[in-house]
Amino acid sequence: MAQPLMCDKRLLSLDLSGRTYVVTGGASGIGRVTVEQLARQGATVVVGVRNGAAGQKAADQIRREVPGAKIEILHLDLASLDSVEQFAEQFLATHSELHGLVNNAGVMNTPRGQTKDGFELQFGTNHLGHFYLTELLLDVLQKTEGARIICLSSCYHDKAMGREGKIDFDDLHFTRRKYDGWTAYAQSKLANLLHAKELARRLEGTGVTAVSVHPGWVRTNLIRHSAPVFLQNALAGVLKLAGLIEPWEGAQTTLYALLSPEVPKHSGAFFSQTGMYRDRSKNAGGWPMSSPNPHAHDDELARRLYDESARIIAEARQKRRAA
Ligand SMILES: NC(=O)c1ccc[n+]([C@@H]2O[C@H](COP(=O)([O-])OP(=O)(O)OC[C@H]3O[C@@H](n4cnc5c(N)ncnc54)[C@H](OP(=O)(O)O)[C@@H]3O)[C@@H](O)[C@H]2O)c1
Repeated sequence: MAQPLMCDKRLLSLDLSGRTYVVTGGASGIGRVTVEQLARQGATVVVGVRNGAAGQKAADQIRREVPGAKIEILHLDLASLDSVEQFAEQFLATHSELHGLVNNAGVMNTPRGQTKDGFELQFGTNHLGHFYLTELLLDVLQKTEGARIICLSSCYHDKAMGREGKIDFDDLHFTRRKYDGWTAYAQSKLANLLHAKELARRLEGTGVTAVSVHPGWVRTNLIRHSAPVFLQNALAGVLKLAGLIEPWEGAQTTLYALLSPEVPKHSGAFFSQTGMYRDRSKNAGGWPMSSPNPHAHDDELARRLYDESARIIAEARQKRRAA
């Protein structure tokens, strides 16, 4: 197996005092490690969590490791547009700059479900919730010099357990086709990649960089709907031989995307840790890397997804206000 790509130590010792970051889903897994590293480098990190107690526990643990860590925990349920709006309002009430937005939270291969606004659960949480959050924070990002938006995608945007990543505009929410958890995950992760691509196009010339990342196959709770987490942890030694990596390694691509001076030269690109691609020559990853999925290179698809996401959200907000 290829060795995980790791950030240059100089990037991880940059002084980030005076910088502010938002990390969604930062109480566990890759997000938690990202929060800790940014705080260690002196940044203020606002962490969006749906479980307040878990968020406070993670923040307390980080403060023990990093005395003086500047971490703020705010409630954020990406499966609710009301909650996304409240999070953005609270953030904007107390912050006037945002150097990095890390759209990290996610769910994978869930049983069929819906968000509070009636969207398919994985598309709604992984893509539409983050899409709305990004829209609400775009002004502050554009007012902050050198701001970056990082969308956590996955190598599964290419193929997830044999299902090719594609966007089905005729049935985004699986109301007509039979629900399949991997097909829905692949669609949501391709949407994350296309979101960054289209953001980059729209934000050209504003100084804001947007990229998508695959963090690697990482030992986190994400697997919970597919296999017991304890089993993954018990078998970690063997799974590592097949490419499983630890959360610290899994956070490297996000940290590189946030901190490397090279990244703004590649706005819209996909940055991949080691992964599992249909084209095995891509398995070593790359910062940046060209996806083997042709849909990932379709500019028209990215535009259409952006417009459709904005339309779906505007319609849902209108319905909510009328109710
Ligand atoms: N682990 C991997 O191998 C892998 C591979 C490719 C891509 N990724 C991507 O990496 C990102 C981070 O995942 P991870 O591996 O670190 O998994 P994780 O430990 O399960 O972290 C995901 C986080 O998202 C949060 N979350 C889920 N639904 C949410 C919602 N509705 N509102 C707010 N937060 C919500 C979770 O909160 P709760 O704890 O409350 O559920 C959790 O803190 C995801 O986008 C995932 O798709 C991971």
